[in-house]
Amino acid sequence: MTKKVLCIVGTRPEAIKMAPVILALKQQPWAVVHVLATAQHRQMLDQVLNFFGIVPDSDLNVMRPNQDLTELTARLLVGAGEVLDRERPDVVLVQGDTTTVMAVAIAAFYRRIALGHVEAGLRTGDIRNPFPEEANRVIAGRLARWHFAPTEGAKQNLLREGVSEDRIFVTGNTVIDALLNTAERRIDSGLNLPEGRRIVLITAHRRENFGEPIRRICAALKELALRNPDVHLVYPVHPNPNVKEVAETMLAGLQNVQLCAPLDYAPFVSVMRRSHLIISDSGGVQEEAPALGKPVLVLRDETERPEAVAEGVVKLVGTDHDYIVSQVQLLLDDADAYKNMSRGVSPYGDGMASQRVIEILACDTAGRG
Ligand code: UD1
Ligand code: UDP
Repeated sequence: MTKKVLCIVGTRPEAIKMAPVILALKQQPWAVVHVLATAQHRQMLDQVLNFFGIVPDSDLNVMRPNQDLTELTARLLVGAGEVLDRERPDVVLVQGDTTTVMAVAIAAFYRRIALGHVEAGLRTGDIRNPFPEEANRVIAGRLARWHFAPTEGAKQNLLREGVSEDRIFVTGNTVIDALLNTAERRIDSGLNLPEGRRIVLITAHRRENFGEPIRRICAALKELALRNPDVHLVYPVHPNPNVKEVAETMLAGLQNVQLCAPLDYAPFVSVMRRSHLIISDSGGVQEEAPALGKPVLVLRDETERPEAVAEGVVKLVGTDHDYIVSQVQLLLDDADAYKNMSRGVSPYGDGMASQRVIEILACDTAGRG
């Protein structure tokens, strides 16, 4: 008997991490796949879906400029609810910790539809940090039938919250499936990066860094650019106005700082590969860069991804100006410190996570009415 599986994508990282699951699910004779794009992100979601050749079956088009979380949640709950009522899926699959994930999890719960949570069990333990993602994943975790945990640590977090062990599956993170597949294609970044110079790649977008923290980050980047004219900084700027306006104002006119629009996924992977080191507050980048052997300095005080920190290849540097400058400078100047952080390790997966997710769903949904 076939099962209808509704796969949800809202933002860029959800699409990157859900794409391998969707593409593999479409090969399964038992699965009827319906892709629902909430379009919490518009341009950045479309970039990823185009790259992976995924055409959504439904599109809520909810994004508004500088959107407010309450209104976004309301639009998502109503819109996703209508699609669930119309499509009546057997299973809903969500990925990660965005507002899309939280709202769809609630909409599915209200209709008693079984929920699978991909990238389950990540926790900082502080409900306000990261904001609002920790709350989003706790809510999705409370409502899920299947918890696809990327690591053993994530499984332990869920067990501590009382989730029954037979509902937790350690699969690895599907981000590594997408990364390995994309890196293999060796698509050029198209950025015309200077030959022979070390590249520092930067990304930043977290809500808790809006305001003073993002200003301190940009001031630190400016100081690093001025101190190290031989180093080239590449910063694809997130379109959130709280980030974009600050970055474009504070980093304008520096000869060795290249600001650009968000890159398509394959060009971004190409720049990661070419980079000497990465400075980021992104979740996905913390998972991808270690697998490519690139050190990441994380612009946060805590992380729900402690495995690479424990391995010594990711370091939390927070948002203090002087500390960021000193830690980046250390990696630029000290070959041993750099070598220690650039051992290629991949604590988040082996490229087979989506296959595991699908095998579990196939077994578990077989024969269920
Ligand atoms: C969202 C997620 C965050 C995730 C991040 C990945 C929430 C609350 N936040 O943060 O968990 O880590 O995506 O990038 O779920 N915008 C555009 N075009 C786009 C995307 C965004 O113009 O393609 C602008 C819009 O003005 C939009 C704003 O960015 O209103 C904020 O988007 P939103 O999804 O609310 O927050 P992000 O900071 O992107
Ligand atoms: N990424 C991209 N283009 C960019 C910057 C990032 O394709 O210009 C990819 C990156 O490889 C990773 C994902 O976007 O897979 C991370 O998304 P983001 O940092 O927006 O969200 P988070 O992971 O923090 O939720």
